[in-house]
Amino acid sequence: MSDHIVFFSKSDIPQSWQTAFAKVRPGARFEVLSGAVTGPCDADFAVVWHPPHGELARMTKLKAIFSLGAGVDHVLGDPEFPSHVPLSRVVDPTLTAGMSEYVVLQVLALHRGLPGYIAAQRRGLWRPSAPKLARDVRVGIMGMGVLGRDAARKLAPFGYRLSGWSRSGFEEAGVECHRGADGLKAILRSTDILVCLLPLTAETRGILNRETLALLPAGAAILNAGRGAHIVDADLLAALDARHVSAAALDVFAEEPLPAPHRYWSHPGVIVTPHVASLTNADAVAARMSASMDRVNAGLPPFDLVDPARGY
Ligand code: NAP
Ligand code: GLV
Repeated sequence: MSDHIVFFSKSDIPQSWQTAFAKVRPGARFEVLSGAVTGPCDADFAVVWHPPHGELARMTKLKAIFSLGAGVDHVLGDPEFPSHVPLSRVVDPTLTAGMSEYVVLQVLALHRGLPGYIAAQRRGLWRPSAPKLARDVRVGIMGMGVLGRDAARKLAPFGYRLSGWSRSGFEEAGVECHRGADGLKAILRSTDILVCLLPLTAETRGILNRETLALLPAGAAILNAGRGAHIVDADLLAALDARHVSAAALDVFAEEPLPAPHRYWSHPGVIVTPHVASLTNADAVAARMSASMDRVNAGLPPFDLVDPARGY
């Protein structure tokens, strides 16, 4: 199959993807784009992360677009996004496993007060405090999709009291289900550690703000591995300064890399990680994308199809 695949990402290593596609789709022409398309582009498939706005619309022969991540806000945020072209996202067991490892790591760190101990160590202070057992800690997960559900399953063996929130409702053994606006209030009021694994959409942008953070019990902690723009940063910093929120583990930021003067870098209650909660594995995902390309060439939708109207 001599498909023309164009690749654009400033965060992924193109050679890894070129090698991965050479294995699974040896006849394809793999073209790495480093910037704007200057002439006509006859690509069949685009594999992208944060493509420059307007670029996908210029590729008039596209049969499908593949996001290099689970999230698609980086594509749907393009005002010229060609919504008639099928858009596929990453759903992959390695991505899911990586995210659950990150969630378990940070939930345990927040539950056991690690940010406070690291801050105390920097000042040479020996300040023990009695930890709660996991069975007395309420973890609320916003976004019970592929990643949220797996994170809940991996947290369950520790004994945490789990609840989750989604748009349409879900069923997951051992997890209290919340949905909709009332459900949001209920989960916030009954959560000690809030985990955000939502996609970024018009409805979820800024969802963690002064009003919603105020609903959390005093001393609650936040883990955000969804997108930075889920949080109104000034509101979270005010809640941290007032100790209403005790700590935050943040992997994603409204601006990435997180700018040097940002207060998150130095706030004693904040753990910053550089958008590494879970990374896309080129070998595994190129194989899935190639299988999707076969489907598209046969007139079928790709796997892991996104609904652009819903935004995820
Ligand atoms: P997913 O399977 O599409 O799940 C999304 C979940 O969010 C679903 O449960 C959905 O509800 C819920 N949701 C969406 N809009 C909502 C709303 N307005 N109100 C309430 N719930 C809402 O997505 P996923 O694969 O789990 O990925 C989630 C996000 O994680 C990605 O979009 C990306 O931003 C982020 N991510 C980050 C990293 C990282 O390294 N930091 C890595 C991978 C992914 P329904 O079930 O009702 O549809
Ligand atoms: C990473 O942020 C992803 O969306 O996969």
